[in-house]
Amino acid sequence: MSTPIPAEDERLFAYPQDRSCPWQPSSGYRELGEKGPLHRVRLWDGKSIWMVTGHAQARRLLADPRMSADRSRDDFPAVLPRLDAPIFKPIAIIGFDPPVHDVHRRLLAPDFSLKQARALRGSVEELAGRLVEGMLRKGPPAELIEDYALPIPSMVISELLGVPYDDHAFFEAMTVGLLQAKSAADAEAAGQALWDYLDELITAKEREPGGTGVLSRLVGEVDEDGDLTREDLVRIALALLIGGHDTTSQMIALGVVTLLEHPDQLAALRSDPGVLPAAVDELLRMVSVTDVSGVRVATEDIEIDGYVVRAGEGVLVSSSMTNRDPAVFPDPYRFDVHRGGGRNAASGRHHLTFGFGIHQCLGQNLARMELEVAFSVLFDRIPDLRLAVPLDGLPTRSGGTMQGVHTLPVEW
Ligand code: HEM
Repeated sequence: MSTPIPAEDERLFAYPQDRSCPWQPSSGYRELGEKGPLHRVRLWDGKSIWMVTGHAQARRLLADPRMSADRSRDDFPAVLPRLDAPIFKPIAIIGFDPPVHDVHRRLLAPDFSLKQARALRGSVEELAGRLVEGMLRKGPPAELIEDYALPIPSMVISELLGVPYDDHAFFEAMTVGLLQAKSAADAEAAGQALWDYLDELITAKEREPGGTGVLSRLVGEVDEDGDLTREDLVRIALALLIGGHDTTSQMIALGVVTLLEHPDQLAALRSDPGVLPAAVDELLRMVSVTDVSGVRVATEDIEIDGYVVRAGEGVLVSSSMTNRDPAVFPDPYRFDVHRGGGRNAASGRHHLTFGFGIHQCLGQNLARMELEVAFSVLFDRIPDLRLAVPLDGLPTRSGGTMQGVHTLPVEW
């Protein structure tokens, strides 16, 4: 048995803390945020790390080349026990620094452009329409995650990567297993199963070149002495498959909950479909579904607004709190679908839910499009949708940084 690491300081704020409201951070984060922009917090292993709650400081740190995202470094902080699993060290793209990061990001960029997301919109609208038809045919109550919020991003990412959607039950369960694991061993087991699955799939694509999807395209780019090794490709497939569906499905689910619990805002959205893009960004800001916009380690001492982040110290950027910095978002705890609309369009997008700097979310065009379609089709087709259980009866995820609900029963 390993010896527990003594806490550096028992009095430090213990991170993470669960929410009591699906769209607001814990009251503990709020109190911390009111004290200043940077805080020392204590992790599960007793180690301490900087938690950034100030918006300007977060942007500066995330854009600073002295901050490393390299998860294979010994001093890289494991914010949760599962992140200590070897499968996460390294994880493609998100866990690499330049130059490798930039090379892999450039290889993927064409499939994640705004143009590409727009081209997919029609088929995502059809898909969402079919899923709602299915719910209406079966009649209430429906299970919104299983029937709607999960199949949309799951089918989209399968199609985009060229992963058979018939295998969705397997890769969805393994992704949740990986992201919700309470220990490194459980995360490793789920991650390894996904790795083996993708490895086999890539072998099949190597045998039969010419298929559709990102993986078939990249199979042709593999060069063991060049920019993309076969192992890189499996790692990239893993990162995209994991990154591509749980975040978006939980964002759809929690977005629906937030809208249903703010009927005036839902009515404002329904009366003017032009508000949709701003409403999606306001939901992304409010819900801050990953609750972390980035984790890094300093490679040199960095002075920032009177604080010194020493070389080797870890930093995590809290998206829920930076998204509530009153210097950027007036009345930040209020949900207002008009916040980013019209002349305020730019400020509405200043949230850090997709991160900032070179690692800013590769899938954000896709995610925004999926969210716009998911909310508009659902509320157009089922205008009297409501929760089938009281808000405080929703089984919410706990003990992690990724927010979500296990089930979302709805009726109409
Ligand atoms: C609502 C949905 C989503 C949220 C909230 C989200 C959030 C984030 C955040 C915060 C980062 C930056 C992490 C860091 O700097 O360490 C990130 C990066 C990334 N996301 Fe997303 N994401 C979402 C959807 C997606 C989708 C649909 C994909 C597509 C497959 C995707 C793929 C990625 C990838 C590959 C990166 C790493 C980019 C890089 O390191 O250059 N994400 N995401």
